[in-house]
Amino acid sequence: KLPVSDLEKFNCYPEGAAVSEERCRLRGCLWEYTTVPDVPTCYYDTIPRYAASNIQYLPTGITTDLAHLGAPESARAAPASGSLSAAISFLQLSVIYHTENMLQFKIFDSTNKRYEVPVTLNTPPSPVGSPEDRLYDVRIQNNPFGIQIRRKSSSTVIWDSQLPGFTFNDMFLSISTRLPSQYIYGFGETEHTAFRRNINWTTWGMFARDEPPAYKKNSYGVHPYYMALEEDGSAHGVLLLNSNAMDVSFQPTPALTYRTTGGILDFYMVLGPTPELVTQQYTELIGRPAMTPYWALGFQLSRYGYQNDTEISQLYKAMMAAQIPYDVQHVDIDYMDRKLDFTLSPSFQNLGLLIEQMKNGSMRFILILDPAISGNETQYRPFTRGQDNNVFIKWPNSNDIVWGKVWPELPNVNVDTSLDHETQVKLYRAYVAFPDFLRNSTAAWWKMEIKELYANSEESEKSLKFDGLWLDMNEPSNFVDGSVRGCSDGILNDPPYMPYLESRDRGLSSKTLCMESEQVLPDGSRVRHYDVHSLYGWAQARPTYEAVQEVTGQRGVIITRSTFPSSGRWGGHWLGDNMAAWDQLRKSIIGMMEFSLFGIPYTGADICGFFGNAEYEMCVRWMQLGAFYPFSRNHNTIGTRRQDPVAWNSTFEMFSRKVLQTRYTLLPYLYTLMHKAHVEGSTVVRPLLHEFTNDNKTWDIDCQFMLGPALLISPVLESNTFETRAYFPRGRWYDYSTESGSVSTGEWKILGAPLDHINLHIRGGYILPWQEPAMNTHAR
Ligand code: NOJ
Repeated sequence: KLPVSDLEKFNCYPEGAAVSEERCRLRGCLWEYTTVPDVPTCYYDTIPRYAASNIQYLPTGITTDLAHLGAPESARAAPASGSLSAAISFLQLSVIYHTENMLQFKIFDSTNKRYEVPVTLNTPPSPVGSPEDRLYDVRIQNNPFGIQIRRKSSSTVIWDSQLPGFTFNDMFLSISTRLPSQYIYGFGETEHTAFRRNINWTTWGMFARDEPPAYKKNSYGVHPYYMALEEDGSAHGVLLLNSNAMDVSFQPTPALTYRTTGGILDFYMVLGPTPELVTQQYTELIGRPAMTPYWALGFQLSRYGYQNDTEISQLYKAMMAAQIPYDVQHVDIDYMDRKLDFTLSPSFQNLGLLIEQMKNGSMRFILILDPAISGNETQYRPFTRGQDNNVFIKWPNSNDIVWGKVWPELPNVNVDTSLDHETQVKLYRAYVAFPDFLRNSTAAWWKMEIKELYANSEESEKSLKFDGLWLDMNEPSNFVDGSVRGCSDGILNDPPYMPYLESRDRGLSSKTLCMESEQVLPDGSRVRHYDVHSLYGWAQARPTYEAVQEVTGQRGVIITRSTFPSSGRWGGHWLGDNMAAWDQLRKSIIGMMEFSLFGIPYTGADICGFFGNAEYEMCVRWMQLGAFYPFSRNHNTIGTRRQDPVAWNSTFEMFSRKVLQTRYTLLPYLYTLMHKAHVEGSTVVRPLLHEFTNDNKTWDIDCQFMLGPALLISPVLESNTFETRAYFPRGRWYDYSTESGSVSTGEWKILGAPLDHINLHIRGGYILPWQEPAMNTHAR
């Protein structure tokens, strides 16, 4: 047998740790040591495990049957425990040529219906477009089975899954494909150190989790989507519509392996051919992003830990006195009584009044809501009405609620915040129930509670006339693993294949609900939390957005922490609990560019950082960069020092005023971009490679970004640095501050960047709508 080159080895023992030659061979795989780090020692042989037959090439697609060929000889004796659950014997492949630039290929169990993601995509009722105009053609290969997709114009093969290891077991599905290049972007939500994915044997897990962004950790949302650049600069996008816990592994072949723990393999591909067109086509498929109101583009202030309403009122006055533009004030869980949704803390009794006063000054308010509802109260209507409407997540085949613990506190406790988190959870936190937002009844109940919050029918002074809502903790986050009494289903919580997740050693229920918890789809069918876990925040977004629109009678806005493909239709997203650290300032650009690809343009990170004390110079630079976030909000956690613009000194105020005046001057341009995103699906925070695809130097640029096609932002991202190295693609560029123009042939330049300055350049040939800045968007 010919030796297999390292690049052609596909990992047959992705569980890692427990691999041994014996176990490897029992699985029917090959074993070979290699000195190259990360190359698998246990890899698949090329013997096919499924045979394709009955391949039918139809005018609008392809259908094929796949039959399992039985376990390889060497694996027959393997103990059941060593296998990654049972293989599905008969599969079907269906390829549908939906449009000239978009196709679907779906592999599913031909005998038994399996769980499929209940997210509706916009595919035409029947395929449209003529065969000649299709950008792609598709071939099915047998022996071993594979799908090959080619871009017709260049004959580039952009998908080729004729590779070892294709598996379709009950709880472990895996497929590999060759990639057309090393230029791959996307997959989230994970913090990345570069916009372009490092494909040198790296693995990224995806499963919604309350996890602050950090290297290799799976954070709040799930986006099994990537954009690839081909050698000639053509671009395509690929979505795996699957919501089970999964991971993806890259290897420099270049190749990509998906491993998921359930559902089916349902892929969608869009063929651009430009990166902008890829995003437009992807958002056409998943749904175009919500249109933000103008005020939501104004600067916003927030913090966790405001003591009372007076503190907010003083902050507002100080901002006015310092003449710093600002439109939106957020209020975190502090406003709630013992952190119970839909209640008002004694320290915030005048919040309703304050909102009214500030709204007279044309300010806007966004209030936070968490999903979990306390069950430890005697007179708490959100819970009793929830019970009456049967909205809470229960144990399978049971009427018992799956109780967890989150923020809500028990009545009559004196909280000692000096105690550690675990002790506090034990002593003070109430039992909470999690609304099942997949049910129709829950959406109706949630809207009713939001309506009561807005206009309290019994005590009108408790009405809080918010303009938008902020959805947090909706992974859903739970302060106890699984439930207050643990979980019972060992296999679902610790599946045979555990993806590369932060919770790998602790099981899937870590920091969330038990996977056996039962949820109910609108058609009445029951699903396991195991399958729909990563859809929790997705399901909450729509009824919340609708509720905001219904109660305010305005366009409104929501931001949501946990997202899934199509969440952008209802909400924006902040990048979660970052650190007040320089590296996080830089990574926020990458995070935003990724959410641009995911069809969620209304994004931004917590300006000056959430955890830790911000430092003066970093916060100045972050105010400057944050002034160009579509969602521009300064926010930090309880116990950290104040970091809002009026918390420092008059110089800091001057820096903030200056850069926010620039933002406000350019708001008509930003608003236009948001509208284009809404109607055409184009990006707002735009990687340079989207505009200058022909210049492959831009393919790696992630320390600069564009807003739309015409504004280039080149921030300072390091301490004690007063110049910045910036790339100028070919063309004429005008310095925003001096208005002087110069022509670039595609060069790096060193730009001066004193502490009061962020470099902005306008691209020649573009006209930008703008206006005189004012204290807020209403004053205009
Ligand atoms: C976690 C959120 O990510 C953060 O923004 C918020 O301040 C805290 N929860 C408290 O509500």
